[in-house]
Amino acid sequence: MTKIRKAVFPVAGLGTRFLPATKALPKEMLTVVDKPVIQYVVDEAREAGIEHFIFVTGRNKTAIEDHFDVQVELYETLSRRGKTEILDRLEAMQPQPGQTSYTRQQVPLGLGHAVWCARELVGGEPFALLLPDMIMQSETGCLKQMVDLYEKSGGNVLSVEECDPGETHKYGIVGRGKDIHTGFEITSMVEKPKPADAPSTFYISGRYILQPEIFALLENQQTGAGGEIQITDAMLRLHAEQSFYAHVYKGRTFDCGSPEGFVEANLSFALEREEFRPYLKNFIRTLLPEIES
Ligand code: UTP
Repeated sequence: MTKIRKAVFPVAGLGTRFLPATKALPKEMLTVVDKPVIQYVVDEAREAGIEHFIFVTGRNKTAIEDHFDVQVELYETLSRRGKTEILDRLEAMQPQPGQTSYTRQQVPLGLGHAVWCARELVGGEPFALLLPDMIMQSETGCLKQMVDLYEKSGGNVLSVEECDPGETHKYGIVGRGKDIHTGFEITSMVEKPKPADAPSTFYISGRYILQPEIFALLENQQTGAGGEIQITDAMLRLHAEQSFYAHVYKGRTFDCGSPEGFVEANLSFALEREEFRPYLKNFIRTLLPEIES
């Protein structure tokens, strides 16, 4: 079983659902409580044993590269001022030299195309793919849960969650086969099907473990839904040759690519923090007096 050492973070999307905030600022740098969204996702990958972080970027995304760089002057100033707690926190988040790579998608032709842009950096080994606008809140990170399944199943593993039956047109939906460990075998995949055509209500929720053969399929993948090169279409072709398993993720997911999901994430992550929880509970009650304790 080949260990999953590398993770791809496609961050080249335009973030149009979050305009005007994303006109000059990458949506991945919006902060949930006090960390940028992208940091949550990198932390999740590190917890799962990832050693190399590959970012597929685009124009206006240099703030992401700067965020993962060492800021020598800042660290020296914090140290001189005795601010050791935040300094330790910053250093713990910092990738080691040589652990990050950046490549540019140049033209945002879709998620599948963004992933294909990472082919040389990933090479011939299985890898993790994390959509950075989806952030997960759970005791054990979503990717770690998936790696635990992958170590038993091998093949390709996708995280899935259930959506309302009327909402299948918003997601990539998988067909449900035989149960295995924490999930099931995937029998089919459809990108954004109408409810009547959906094989189930399990949607792919933004975390993938993929075999490297996906790259050859992405290379000649035609555009699909929305005129974009879709990863789901390439996975469907790979499914004809290889096994795909769904891991039914246990935890909360927030789509920080949309203002609603972003606000929910801020509330939920802030309420998880002991230093904010009591104050926030009272504050929310003053805003919404109808809520009982
Ligand atoms: P989304 O469709 O959610 O991102 O793609 P977007 O295109 O930035 O968002 P909207 O719809 O305009 O608001 C899912 C992920 O794939 C990346 C995005 O950055 C996001 O993390 N992506 C998408 C790319 O890297 N390149 C693309 O061409 C498209």
